[in-house]
Amino acid sequence: MRNTVKFVHNGHIRELENVDPTTTLLNFLRYEDALTGTKEGCAEGDCGACTVVLGDLTEHGIHYQAVNACIQFLPMLDGRELITVEDLKAENGELHPVQQALVTTNATQCGFCTPGFAMSLFAEMHGKNSSELSDINNVLAGNLCRCTGYGPIIEAAKSIAGNAPADKFTARQKNTVELLQSLAKESSLSLDLSGRRYFAPKTMAELSSLLAQHPAAIILAGATDIGLWVTKQFRELETVIYVGQIEALKKICVEKDHLVIGAGVTYTQAWDLLQEHFGDFGELVRRVASTQIRNSGTIGGNIANGSPIGDTPPALIALGATLTLSSKDGSRDILLEDFFIQYGQQDLKAGEFVEKVSVPLLKNDGIFKCYKISKRFDQDISALCGAFHMQMDGTKVLDIRICYGGMAGTPARAFKTEQALIGMEWNLKSVEVAMIAMAADFTPLSDMRASQEYRMMTAQNLLKKFYAETSDPKALTRLVGQGSLSYA
Ligand SMILES: Cc1cc2nc3c(=O)[nH]c(=O)nc-3n(C[C@H](O)[C@H](O)[C@H](O)COP(=O)(O)OP(=O)(O)OC[C@H]3O[C@@H](n4cnc5c(N)ncnc54)[C@H](O)[C@@H]3O)c2cc1C
Ligand code: FES
Ligand code: FES
Repeated sequence: MRNTVKFVHNGHIRELENVDPTTTLLNFLRYEDALTGTKEGCAEGDCGACTVVLGDLTEHGIHYQAVNACIQFLPMLDGRELITVEDLKAENGELHPVQQALVTTNATQCGFCTPGFAMSLFAEMHGKNSSELSDINNVLAGNLCRCTGYGPIIEAAKSIAGNAPADKFTARQKNTVELLQSLAKESSLSLDLSGRRYFAPKTMAELSSLLAQHPAAIILAGATDIGLWVTKQFRELETVIYVGQIEALKKICVEKDHLVIGAGVTYTQAWDLLQEHFGDFGELVRRVASTQIRNSGTIGGNIANGSPIGDTPPALIALGATLTLSSKDGSRDILLEDFFIQYGQQDLKAGEFVEKVSVPLLKNDGIFKCYKISKRFDQDISALCGAFHMQMDGTKVLDIRICYGGMAGTPARAFKTEQALIGMEWNLKSVEVAMIAMAADFTPLSDMRASQEYRMMTAQNLLKKFYAETSDPKALTRLVGQGSLSYA
C-alpha cells in the first residue's frame, strides 16, 4: 500500500504527502496551491464555477472530463491527470482556443463564471466537439452565468465546435499517456491522517476484505452526494473506502438478455447503452444534473443512497432490475425494489457493497417510457419521476409495471394501479379507472419541491401521458384538445 497521492499535472507527476482524505480538490487548489483561477460559488456541484478537467487513460488515449472540484476529494485525483484553467494558456502566453473564443464572442462580463465555462468547453473540444445546440446546452447546463447571458457563450462554443485546433495537450499526449501508465502500476492508495483513513482498493477482493475489517466505513464512488456531506453538513468522515479505482465495477455490457451495469459506472458511461436499449432512459440520464455531475456520479451511488427522488431507481424497478450485493462471504441477488425497505433504510448489510445492477432487455413487444418532472429542465432534482413498462396482448394489457420516485419514502411501485390495468383493454376508460386506483397506492408528502396534491395529480396524469404516447397517435391530439392532458 502507498500513502502518497500521485497525479499528473502540467506534464509531470506530482506526489503529495499527508493528504487529508476529505479535503476538496477546490480547497487544495485555492488554499494550498494558490491556483485561484478555479472559483468557488456554491460548493455543492450546482454552479460550475469550480470546473476542472480530469484526464483518464483509455485504450484510445486520454479521455478528458469536466468535474466539479468543490465536491471531489483530493485523493480521488490519484492516478489521473488534472487540468485547471491556469494550465490552458500556451507556453508563449497565447490564450487557449476556448479562452480566445470566449473573448472573441464577448462571452464574459464579471468573469467569475468564465474559468468554469472555459474548462467545460475545453473538455468538449477534446471530446464530442459538437455544434448541435442541444449538445452545447448539455455541455453548458452545469455552468451558471449571472451576467453575460448564454447567447455569446453558446456562440463561443459553436465557433470551436467541429474545428478543434491542436493544443499543447494534444502535443504532449504521448508523454502524458506514459505518465498515466506508470501511475496505473502503483500499489493501492491508503491514507491515515490522525485516525481518519482513506483506502482506494483496486479489486473487489481487496474491497471486500477492507469492508470486513472496517464495516462502518463509508463507501465513496463519485462523491456527488458524499461531497456535500462534507461541504454543506461539515461532517467528519472517519474511514472512507473509494471504489473508483476498481475496474471490475466500471464495466457495462450486455450479457445474454440483460444489460449489466457495474456499480461504479457513471451516468456519462451508461448513457449511450441505456438510450440504445431503453430509449427514454437515455433522455432521463440527460435530465440528471449536469455534465460535470454525470461524469462523476454513478448509477451504484444513485441506488445505494436510498433517496426517494433518485432518478434511476424508478426506471430500473419498472424494468425489473436485479441488484447484486457482495461481501467477503459471497454475493446475493435481490430484486431492486426489495432493496428499498423504507425511507433511509436499505437492504445493505455491514460489509456489503453494491456490485452491479442487471436490467432485463425489453422483449420485442415491451414498451418502456419514463418521465422526470422538475422545476428546471436541467440541473434539477425530481419533484416526481414516473416509469412505465408494459407488455400487450393484442389490444389488452398483459402486464404492466409502474414505479414512481417522489411519491413515497422510497421509490415505489403503484401496485393497485397496475392491478387495475392488467387484463384490461388499453384505452382511455381503463386508464381513467386506474388513475383513480392510484389514489390508494400513495400518500405523497408536500415539500419545497411539490405539494401533495400536485404530486398525486401529476402522477395520475403521467399515466395518461403514457397512454397517449403508446396508443393511437390521434389520442394525444384528442387529449390535448380536451384539455385533459397536463404536459410533463
Ligand atoms: C448538483 C447536483 C445535482 C444532482 N442532480 C441529480 C439528479 O438530477 N438526479 C438524481 O437522481 N441525483 C442527482 N444528484 C445526486 C447524485 O448525483 C446521485 O445520487 C449520484 O448518482 C450519486 O452517485 P455517486 O457516485 O456520486 O455517489 P457517492 O456520493 O459517492 O455515494 C452516494 C451514496 O451511495 C453509497 N455508495 C456508493 N457506491 C456504493 C456501492 N458500490 N456500494 C454501496 N454503497 C455505495 C455511498 O456510501 C453513499 O451513501 C445530484 C447531485 C448534485 C450535487
Ligand atoms: S462551486 Fe459551484 S459547482 Fe463547485
Ligand atoms: S460573466 Fe458574470 S457570472 Fe458570468
